[in-house]
Amino acid sequence: MVKTKMGMKISICGKGGSGKSTLVALLAAQAGAQGFKVLVVDSDESNSGLYRTLGFSRPPTPLMELVGGKKELKRKMSQADLFHQGSILTKDIPADYVLRQNGLMLVSIGKIMQALEGCACPMGVLSREFLKKLELREDEIAFIDMEAGVEHFGRGIDAGIDGVLLVVEPSFESVAIACKIKELAAGIGRRLWAVLNKVGSEALAVRLKNELDQKNIPVIGVVPHDPEVFEASLDGRPLIKGEAVKVLI
Ligand SMILES: Nc1ncnc2c1ncn2[C@@H]1O[C@H](COP(=O)(O)OP(=O)(O)OP(=O)(O)O)[C@@H](O)[C@H]1O
Ligand SMILES: [Mg+2]
Repeated sequence: MVKTKMGMKISICGKGGSGKSTLVALLAAQAGAQGFKVLVVDSDESNSGLYRTLGFSRPPTPLMELVGGKKELKRKMSQADLFHQGSILTKDIPADYVLRQNGLMLVSIGKIMQALEGCACPMGVLSREFLKKLELREDEIAFIDMEAGVEHFGRGIDAGIDGVLLVVEPSFESVAIACKIKELAAGIGRRLWAVLNKVGSEALAVRLKNELDQKNIPVIGVVPHDPEVFEASLDGRPLIKGEAVKVLI
C-alpha cells in the first residue's frame, strides 16, 4: 500500500482561560502566512465567539445539525453521507458546514444552547468521529480548539489527532493541568508540545520553561502578555497578529 503524507491535526488544550482560542487564531494566521490551508475545528461546546476572533462574520452551521441534532445523533450519524465514508477530506464537508475565507476554513461541532438540554456527550462523540475520519492533504493543517481541562481525553476526542499543543499561562493550576494532560497524551501515544502564554517578562518565561523542562514538557514558543490581544477580545474583534508567537531558541 502506498503511504501518503498527510497534514497534521493538532488539538489546542489547557486550563480554562489560558488562551487556547487566542492561540488557535494566532497559529491559524501564522500557518496561513506560511502557505498552509488551515482548518479550524471548534470543539468547545460552551464558548461561541471563535468565528469572530478568526474574522468571520457569522458562525458555520454546526456539524451537529448535519446529523439531525443531539437526539438523532446515534441513528443519523451512520446515515449521513459525510460520516458514512471511510475518510473525510476537507473538500467533502458540505458548504453550509464549513466557512472559507482567505485559505482559512472553520467547522463547528455544536454548542449547548439551552438550559436542561442534556449533557454535551453527543458533541464529544461527533468530535471524535469527525476527527478520526478527517484526512488532511500535505498542505493542510488543522487546529482543534478544545474545551477547557481534560474531559475531552476521557471522551476519546484526542484519539483522532496527531499531536497536542498545550497552552500554559503563568499559574500553578495551569502547570498542574499541563502535567495531567501530558500523562493523558502519553497514554494514547500522542506527541505533545507547550506554548507559554500571557508571559509578562523574559525572567518569567525562563522560570516557566525550566519548570516545564523538569516535567519533560517541551516548550516550543512564548506569547507575551499583549494588551492588543486582550483588547481585541474585549471588543470582539478578529485577532490577526500572526507574528505574536515567538519561537524560543
Ligand atoms: N497573550 C495574551 N495577552 C493578553 N491577553 C490574552 C492573551 N491570551 C489570551 N488573553 C486573554 O485571556 C482571555 C482568555 O483567552 P481565551 O479565550 O483565548 O482562552 P481560552 O483558553 O480559549 O478560554 P476558554 O477555556 O474559556 O475556552 C481573553 O480575554 C483573552 O483576550
Ligand atoms: Mg476558548
